[in-house]
Amino acid sequence: MEYRKLGSSDLEVSVIGYGAWGIGGAPFWNNEGDGKSRDSIKKAYDLGINFFDTAPVYGFGHSEELIGKALKPFRDKVILATKCGLRWDKRSLSALRKDASRNSILEEIDQSLKRLDTDMIDLYQVHWPDVETDQEETMETLLEIQEKGKIRHIGVSNYSAEQIKDCLQYGKIVSLQPEFSLLTRDIQNDTVPLCLENDIGIIAYSPLSSGVLTGKYDKDTKFEDWRSKGIIGTFTGEGFVKNIEKVDRLKEIADAEGKTCGQTAINWVLRQKGLTTALVGVKNSKQVKENLKAVGWQPSPDNCESIEKVFELA
Ligand SMILES: NC(=O)c1ccc[n+]([C@@H]2O[C@H](COP(=O)([O-])OP(=O)(O)OC[C@H]3O[C@@H](n4cnc5c(N)ncnc54)[C@H](OP(=O)(O)O)[C@@H]3O)[C@@H](O)[C@H]2O)c1
Repeated sequence: MEYRKLGSSDLEVSVIGYGAWGIGGAPFWNNEGDGKSRDSIKKAYDLGINFFDTAPVYGFGHSEELIGKALKPFRDKVILATKCGLRWDKRSLSALRKDASRNSILEEIDQSLKRLDTDMIDLYQVHWPDVETDQEETMETLLEIQEKGKIRHIGVSNYSAEQIKDCLQYGKIVSLQPEFSLLTRDIQNDTVPLCLENDIGIIAYSPLSSGVLTGKYDKDTKFEDWRSKGIIGTFTGEGFVKNIEKVDRLKEIADAEGKTCGQTAINWVLRQKGLTTALVGVKNSKQVKENLKAVGWQPSPDNCESIEKVFELA
């Protein structure tokens, strides 16, 4: 495993992080049961993954509980990241609302500490920008809980370059967690340069485009989970068909490299400027093992060029 320093923090994170959204299960994903989820967390730890990312909303608390319990024996050896600012009044996808106000964060932090069974969170991230709350209020509250010792570092997720600039007026953030994959690379236009200038580490989410870049789907696939709802990514319509055509090309390139399509897609993310770590979502130990083979190699110059041509930045 390879480790990199996360932005201006003192955290040395594995280049592949464990994404704990999927193991939270319903109503977002169909997971494979808590036994397999626990095994996958332990397998990830055993294979050198030290960075685990979850959120209260993943399985409405279930993902945080699973992560907290499975990592309890190794708590001092791992870096735990969770989030705030996405709330729910009932356990349904349609009931999600953004709230990064002081009251919400003060309530959420104690709930997360309890579910994760820890007294400090290493990286606490605002899940989505809440345009109804002043950034100043959000940042001041985060700085206050940092001062109290409940969190070590502050990060943001899904923020635009402008929103990051706004945030930086009020305090230090060490990371940005954006969607970043061969199929979603627009952050390379203005957000990556801004992060590099300000020593903000980039934590890529959905590097496999939530499974599409593994190459296991075709243009006729109909998703029955959150992917049919159009929250993030492109999983329906003409855009999806175009993406599958690109993934078919990636499969050919991956074959020539003796790798899987997914390994080649994760490998591309890891090679991008400004990138610190890629959070790969997994459901079982086999996937953990397979995804780690994305580290420590690079395609031939010709194949790198072909990948760039197929997945050109708009
Ligand atoms: N901040 C945010 O707003 C945000 C949003 C999304 C994600 N995230 C973070 O990023 C993490 C990863 O994102 P993600 O789960 O959307 O997507 P991803 O990592 O792009 O894809 C993960 C999915 O691909 C499939 N997969 C993974 N490895 C595989 C393998 N070796 N072979 C075959 N299939 C494999 C699994 O689904 P199946 O087994 O079901 O096919 C898995 O759930 C999340 O867990 C979360 O921590 C953050």
